[in-house]
Amino acid sequence: MNLAIIGCGNIGGAIARAIDKEQGFNLVALFDIDPERAAALERELKSKPVVISRIEDILKDKDIDLVVESASQDAVRHYGIKILESGKNLMIMSVGAFTEDILFERMKRIAEEKNLKVYIPSGAILGVDGLKSANMAKINSVMLTTRKNPKSLDVDVDKETILYEGTAREGVRKYPKNVNVASTLSLAGIGLDKTKLKIIADPSVDKNIHEIKVRGDFGEFNVKVENLSCPENPKTSYLAVLSAIATLKGIKEAVQIGT
Ligand SMILES: NC(=O)c1ccc[n+]([C@@H]2O[C@H](COP(=O)([O-])OP(=O)(O)OC[C@H]3O[C@@H](n4cnc5c(N)ncnc54)[C@H](O)[C@@H]3O)[C@@H](O)[C@H]2O)c1
Repeated sequence: MNLAIIGCGNIGGAIARAIDKEQGFNLVALFDIDPERAAALERELKSKPVVISRIEDILKDKDIDLVVESASQDAVRHYGIKILESGKNLMIMSVGAFTEDILFERMKRIAEEKNLKVYIPSGAILGVDGLKSANMAKINSVMLTTRKNPKSLDVDVDKETILYEGTAREGVRKYPKNVNVASTLSLAGIGLDKTKLKIIADPSVDKNIHEIKVRGDFGEFNVKVENLSCPENPKTSYLAVLSAIATLKGIKEAVQIGT
């Protein structure tokens, strides 16, 4: 499988290093709005992907099967539709871009028409599998509570403070770099307006903690994950990086485990 990565930061870099050693994956191109980041990553890799300076070079390359977006919500907005229209599968990390329903629906339609896939990894949360199963019957409520150190949320508070309480849609828009997982959870379940989100800045924690409560016809589940953040980017949980790598490997696996 020939891959290109857009966004050579924390997640893009970790994915590139992971597949660099992996049979069956061929990393052919790297693109970053900051060309030095792509060039620095390329120097670390055995596979020697081409560092490109224009998205068009990915779009016109007929040999690329899958593009990994690990850049920003703007990247999804600006390149997502073009990538699918050029006939390539797409994996998306900046899922918060899908608070725009029109963008999500358009990308989904193009993927359906062209028989392509859009992959959205679970990211830094647990429970996406159970939520998808539960969604085969009635779900009454989905609630995500995210607790992070104020530094990870770019706020300066010296005691536990609720920064946001409301719909996932509004919360993701207010904290676009922090709660992509709320968007993922909403897409897997009952949508951005019915999924509830609470964001707490807590100086006493040094982990990114997500608690998910789901109630429905199946019963209820409560899951909690205490994520260590990546040293390079405290806003990003290590599990999100691992989830992206696991999703990629899963595409090639004959046996698919989990919902
Ligand atoms: N789905 C999840 O669970 C989850 C978890 C953590 C982070 N994220 C999101 O994934 C994305 C990447 O996270 P990260 O920790 O690797 O960030 P990062 O800041 O370490 O790296 C992002 C890289 O993308 C580049 N970039 C930004 N906009 C671009 C554009 N329009 N075109 C090309 N390159 C661009 C930047 O220059 C940077 O090198 C972010 O949007 C982040 O919010 C998602």
